[in-house]
Amino acid sequence: MKILFTNIKELLQTRDNPTTALKAEAMKVLPTIKNAYLLIEDQKISQYGSMNNLPTIEVDKQVDLSGKMVLPTWCDSHTHLVYAGNREQEFIDRINGLSYEEIAAKGGGILNSAKTLENTSENELFEQSVKRLESVGRLGTGALEIKSGYGLSLEGELKMLRVIKRLKEYSGITIKSTFLGAHAVPLSFKENRQAYIDYIIATILPEVVSQGLAEYIDVFCEKGYFSVSDMERILEAATEKGLIPKVHVNQFNAIGGIKAAIKYNALTVDHLEVIEEQDITAMQNANTIAVALPLCSFFLGIPYSPAKKLIEAGIPFALASDYNPGSSPSGNMNQVVSTACIKMKLNPEEAINAATINAAHAMGIASTHGSITPGKVANFIITKDVPSYGYLMYDFGNNNIDSVYINGMALD
Ligand code: NIG
Ligand code: FE
Repeated sequence: MKILFTNIKELLQTRDNPTTALKAEAMKVLPTIKNAYLLIEDQKISQYGSMNNLPTIEVDKQVDLSGKMVLPTWCDSHTHLVYAGNREQEFIDRINGLSYEEIAAKGGGILNSAKTLENTSENELFEQSVKRLESVGRLGTGALEIKSGYGLSLEGELKMLRVIKRLKEYSGITIKSTFLGAHAVPLSFKENRQAYIDYIIATILPEVVSQGLAEYIDVFCEKGYFSVSDMERILEAATEKGLIPKVHVNQFNAIGGIKAAIKYNALTVDHLEVIEEQDITAMQNANTIAVALPLCSFFLGIPYSPAKKLIEAGIPFALASDYNPGSSPSGNMNQVVSTACIKMKLNPEEAINAATINAAHAMGIASTHGSITPGKVANFIITKDVPSYGYLMYDFGNNNIDSVYINGMALD
């Protein structure tokens, strides 16, 4: 099946595939073609170019996109999209003055979601999650990573990871799976965190690996959750079994998680709201990608990650939603890029690069996703009639998406 899209007002992110994530000045460059055509063939991008050079080709279907722009779908490299219920009550509690950490200390937070998940059947968990997945697909997300971490027991973690596997099988959206057993210490191990880590390493991790349920390993390295040495123990065991680290660090406190993660060749270090000079130096000497989560800062009212500083320091940088019930109950990547421009002062080019090609690197799928490149999957967003691509970020909160194609097919 060949489909030809013609008269595209501007085709964004047309590039040869970079083998590593973009850095520094390269982040400011967004290759585009005005008045373009795009040919897709059998679920893949086949050719593109200027309408002035439109080749004569026989196609099955031709679509006129006058006035509209085309860009690759967003890649969302950090989500907790599989969860049960919601935490609206904690949202109200925060409005009334409690902090995220105070709520967690009272047994709310991640443990609250863990309790709800325990009382939710696997089928029900799938049904709730697939609705979220379909909704972010319509908002232009064509690939995403999903973490476990609300199970906190062998049964619970496997239940979440099996749901992620079912989502992979069910949906055309590309999904990567991350084992986050060390998200919080469950009540049953309240007084003995080390025993919980032993249990993760000796009991849950081997099952996750032998059942092929995760490609990445994550730890919430933070005061009150898991220390740097806890994280090192888990990363040591998990990397030995072939999982690649993508970790939560420096959300509320800088405790040395970045340097430790880099030692284990982390693909990404995520959050980074609180950063010290030594963290920047550690990242400058590594290939690990810094992933910022602006909607978490927006929703919790915590500092934004110093994105501009990271980019200027030459650190590869990506953006993600952190979609989860406690700190970012939205997986809207349009809102992510807008917020990154508004609050982190990224240029539209930097924001788009951070949420497409660099985000694809941040989830290990850059050879197939993240840019308009022949041979990559035909995943792209067609915008409504907009004046320029910067308008997409400026016009925040408004829906400028006309349609979304995943594997060469329009979503309904
Ligand atoms: O990335 N910080 C840890 N994990 C999530 C929040 C999880 C939750 O509150 O349920 C995050 O913000
Ligand atoms: Fe997270």
